[in-house]
Amino acid sequence: MQFEIFTDAVTDLETECLILAIAPEGKLSPSALEVDAKSGGYLSDIAADHNGKAGETLLLHKVPGIKAKRVVLMGVGKQEDRTDRTQRKVIVAGMGQIKALKLSNAVFALDHMESNDEDLYRQIRHNTEWASAELYQYDTTKSKKADELALESLAFRVDEADAELAEYSIADGSAIANGVTTARELGNLPGNICTPTYLSEIAIALDAECDKLTTTVLEEDEMAELGMFSLLSVGEGSIQPSKLIVMEYKGGEEGDKPHVLVGKGITFDTGGISLKPGAKMDEMKFDMCGAASVIGAMESLTEMALPINVVAIVASAENMPSSKATKPGDIVTTMSGQTVEILNTDAEGRLVLCDALTYAERFEPATVVDVATLTGACIVALGHHTAGLLSNNDELADSLLAAGDFAADRAWRLPIGEEYQEQLDSNFADIANIGGPAAGTITAACFLARFTEKFAWAHLDIAGVAWNSNGKAKGSTGRCVPLLCQHLLNQVDEGEEEQEGCGHDH
Ligand code: BES
Ligand code: MN
Ligand code: ZN
Repeated sequence: MQFEIFTDAVTDLETECLILAIAPEGKLSPSALEVDAKSGGYLSDIAADHNGKAGETLLLHKVPGIKAKRVVLMGVGKQEDRTDRTQRKVIVAGMGQIKALKLSNAVFALDHMESNDEDLYRQIRHNTEWASAELYQYDTTKSKKADELALESLAFRVDEADAELAEYSIADGSAIANGVTTARELGNLPGNICTPTYLSEIAIALDAECDKLTTTVLEEDEMAELGMFSLLSVGEGSIQPSKLIVMEYKGGEEGDKPHVLVGKGITFDTGGISLKPGAKMDEMKFDMCGAASVIGAMESLTEMALPINVVAIVASAENMPSSKATKPGDIVTTMSGQTVEILNTDAEGRLVLCDALTYAERFEPATVVDVATLTGACIVALGHHTAGLLSNNDELADSLLAAGDFAADRAWRLPIGEEYQEQLDSNFADIANIGGPAAGTITAACFLARFTEKFAWAHLDIAGVAWNSNGKAKGSTGRCVPLLCQHLLNQVDEGEEEQEGCGHDH
């Protein structure tokens, strides 16, 4: 499927479906008025039958005087109500029509009325990402495959003067969308297929496709050599070997300090000896979604070919109970030398992340961002819409919040601090791996903060946003690939003069 930018007059567009905007009270968009004029009032006659609500569609055939085969009149809502959420509704509704009719091409000609976003680059990038997300269907482990996608080309119509910027926009948008798709696919795969070994193979396959990317996989013996006994303790009960996957992308200058992304890759979290209850335990196959979003963002990065250095580190293990499994009360020594009393084997994410974070030190990072489905408490605090953000650096935190806003993939900051750190005191080790029932997201981040003192670090808790639990929508969301990509795009802006809208060359 190809995204394209068209600049022709709407009446001249040869397409199976022309999607035009209509606001409430029968208010036709400029493009719709052009079509109306050519068609002798066909649209204005019918406009009263449309209430113009965002995402409401009316399919019209044989509109006279134009080259398009069909027209969809797409409600965009009242001007004052248009946001990125209504924009997404519009795109989803348009894609719904395109899929239902099995069209091979279509053009959105919405005159930028799908939102009030004045940044054309961002508006079209979002359209691209969200349209693409509607085309993803999981069928990998079904014997009956989904129908082959009929859609070959999806275009956005813009004015000639905006065409160049719009081209950048669909290039970045589809790169980000591809990363999102990869993250969703990895998340959706079951735990018996998507193992730590599988994740490492995916990372190696990405390396093979990009000259600037080098993937190295550290095996258990190598991790033991480095003293990563916290990470290793998590996979102790599993037959699946744990992996530390390191992906180094060199798009920048030799000496440019890299931005590091770290992902929690627990390919299944039973809780270990601190076994989880049975209800919804299947959803713990999604406990590698942090890793999936980091791998997805690396894929987008290679496609955008950004001129920066980035390192991704995925800490991957399967958390199982067995006679070999780590037990509550066991004490392990981390790579940093700090000892940890594992009071609950279900607080395993921090145990794999802490050694991956210590490993990050060797890259002398400019910034480190870890992404993890870390705490159920984050769902209590922020629900399923906003990721949790915790950081030891205000500048990095603010920039990630802004990146999340820009990408419509939002996060909200929670505090970390001394007063919470005390909850992690242990009588028998340097730190306990749990901090009691209060402020679970914060104490989890406080644990990580003990391993990140040497660099600017932020932690994204995506427990609430990484997947959807409901019925037909059940599945991985690909969040926070867009946020991570925007974070990386912003690092390019940092080093270069501001260009209009998007900050990098293609
Ligand atoms: N992977 C879970 C967190 C989680 C649970 C994410 C449910 C999404 C939905 C994590 O490993 C975990 O089990 N955390 C515990 C920590 C507790 C033992 C301190 C939790 O949140 O209950
Ligand atoms: Mn757990
Ligand atoms: Zn977990």
